[in-house]
Amino acid sequence: REAALNTKKRSISIGTAANIDAFHTDENYKKILGREFDLLVAENVMKMDVMHTNIDTFDFSQSDELVSFAKQHSMQIEGANLIWSNQVPAWITNGGYNRDELLGIMKDYILNVVGHYKGQVKSWVVVNEPLDTNEANQKSIWESVIGPQYIDYAFRWAHEADPQAKLYINEFDTELINEKSNSYYALIQGLLQRKVPINGVGFEGHLDVAIQYPYDQLVSNLNRFADLDLQVQITEADIKLQNSPDPLPEKFKQQASLYADIIHACQEVKQCSGVVLWGFTDRYTWIPNFTHHPDQPLIFNAQYQPKPAYNAIKEALFGK
Ligand code: G3I
Repeated sequence: REAALNTKKRSISIGTAANIDAFHTDENYKKILGREFDLLVAENVMKMDVMHTNIDTFDFSQSDELVSFAKQHSMQIEGANLIWSNQVPAWITNGGYNRDELLGIMKDYILNVVGHYKGQVKSWVVVNEPLDTNEANQKSIWESVIGPQYIDYAFRWAHEADPQAKLYINEFDTELINEKSNSYYALIQGLLQRKVPINGVGFEGHLDVAIQYPYDQLVSNLNRFADLDLQVQITEADIKLQNSPDPLPEKFKQQASLYADIIHACQEVKQCSGVVLWGFTDRYTWIPNFTHHPDQPLIFNAQYQPKPAYNAIKEALFGK
């Protein structure tokens, strides 16, 4: 058969987020998931609200299913994400815990979860979106109760639990050189100065065909982080269509060319470990819930036909 994206003839990993509902109900979904990708990230079931259902309960049932599927298909696993402002269980947000208690909860969580997957998870997103604020425009519970040092603690505990795992920080809207990516850079420099055990920097890559992402700037932005002697990775790529004024076939071409740019940029930056897509079929994507438009952000359509974006990625990886 024709080579799928995961053929071993190239240097970067190509991953995808996996949606557990589709995984449970849709055989076509599982077939493509196992065939095309060499890295799997759970879209939701490795997050705290799912895995830490109460102060003394951990639930790995759904995450274990994805991990065992990944192993059967020789896919590596990225754990996402340990500490984030969002998807925090209600028993924590409503618990009224003080700083020491919350630190205790965080430590216990990280040691348990990273310990459970020790040796199985290649990389963890330890802290997700540290520059972000939650929907109510407030700091995350971690930052507001513990202070900015919560980041250092999280990395140190994750390293203690699995010294081999690559530990990432992750952020959105940081693909280009701008105020937000400058803040990201400064935050990471601080971590390195304090000898926090961080190995990698994630750039989510939730992009939009109506926005310009100059290729050279993408590369130089990734390079300045790589020059800190860290890995870099595109962690959640998807590309929205709605905002382009052009007819649909044109938008699909724009989308394809932007996907190709991301792949090329990762190939060009020596320390770029890979590109992870935030799903692969327009049948299952978080985007329409967010934008209230179909937006068709992924590389297979809702009927599992490859889109121009799929072919563009394949060509970027293997040539024509
Ligand atoms: O599981 C519950 C279900 O029990 C309930 O009945 C239903 C009703 O709303 O909600 C279900 O939970 C939803 C969950 O996805 C699982 O489907 C949440 O409402 C929904 O908010 C949640 O959305 C996820 C989102 O993170 C949460 O912020 C998206 O699927 C997921 O793609 C998205 O992923 C994030 C990355 O982790 C970090 N970067 C941004 C990215 C997009 O927001």
